[in-house]
Amino acid sequence: MLVLGIEGTAHTVGVGIVTEKEVLANVSHMYRPPEGGIHPREAANHHVQYLPKLLNEAFRIANVKPEELDGISFSQGPGLGPCLRTVATAARVLSVKLNIPIVGVNHCIAHLEIGRFSTGAEDPVMLYVSGGNTQIISFASGRYRVFGETLDIGVGNMLDKLAREMGIPFPGGPRIEKLALEGKKYIPLPYSIKGMDMAFSGILTAAINKLNNESKEDIAYSVQETVFAMLVEATERALTHLRKDEVLLAGGVARNKRLQEMLEIMAEERGARFYVPPADLCVDNGAMIAYLGLLFLKNGKRMEIGDTQVIQKFRTDAVDIPWDVKRHK
Ligand code: ATP
Ligand code: FE2
Repeated sequence: MLVLGIEGTAHTVGVGIVTEKEVLANVSHMYRPPEGGIHPREAANHHVQYLPKLLNEAFRIANVKPEELDGISFSQGPGLGPCLRTVATAARVLSVKLNIPIVGVNHCIAHLEIGRFSTGAEDPVMLYVSGGNTQIISFASGRYRVFGETLDIGVGNMLDKLAREMGIPFPGGPRIEKLALEGKKYIPLPYSIKGMDMAFSGILTAAINKLNNESKEDIAYSVQETVFAMLVEATERALTHLRKDEVLLAGGVARNKRLQEMLEIMAEERGARFYVPPADLCVDNGAMIAYLGLLFLKNGKRMEIGDTQVIQKFRTDAVDIPWDVKRHK
């Protein structure tokens, strides 16, 4: 089966083409706001501008013709309304023009399934950390369920906001990681975790308040140590309660080496295996949308155009999973 997927929940527009066995193309372009945070309409305009080029590029790299596709999938949510509507419209046009099935998929589950696909993890507890999302997800009773999550902002968004206060443009996470390597002193910050849920905005405010008298390096280091410890603690709790033995890290913040290291130590101490997908499949990308679309289409899911409205607050646990997660596909 050959499926093309379009991602466009937030800042990144991406196109992927996949088969059951491999990613044939995975191209994307990221909107970088001139200043401040992401403006949804500006990001959507960016997606309109780049999507035709990305589609051509993906077909060229994958060496397939549009007529050869068996289906189209797109990120139906969660995300920013104008961005979601842009990619949904593009997907509908392709589906109608090529007369092939269309399926809208949940972005968070796409991170999880491409993680299983690319690492060989079977039934993991996934720590999904990105700009907009921070969730601990695992499979239970026919659905991917959220066992813990942020009560306010995503951890990546928190790092980006801290970076912005330091004069670093979006995305700030990678620069915070570099600064943290130079940090020497641990500055105590609020540690905010309730069961398996976490909150980050209080820590952000505390860290910003310390910018006047502490170095950026020490603040970056202290913020990382604090919030990553919270993430690892919540993941460990889920792993233990669910009696699972695999940990999968995903989302843009998964690229952070210190977070990888801390999670791996926890997994090892618990006798669990640790997995992290390659960098280009960690961040928002079209291949993960294509792959999740392929799984649904292969398992018989069909949507009419009328079912393809975007869902801005699309919950991970709102989707029935028709395939056998334990036996992989
Ligand atoms: P979602 O739509 O799933 O919320 P997103 O729009 O935030 O995703 P991603 O590409 O998954 O997009 O993640 C981007 C985030 O990852 C940004 O907040 C960025 O700062 C953060 N990030 C990227 N690399 C690193 C890193 N090395 N360390 C920490 N954070 C990072
Ligand atoms: Fe994402």
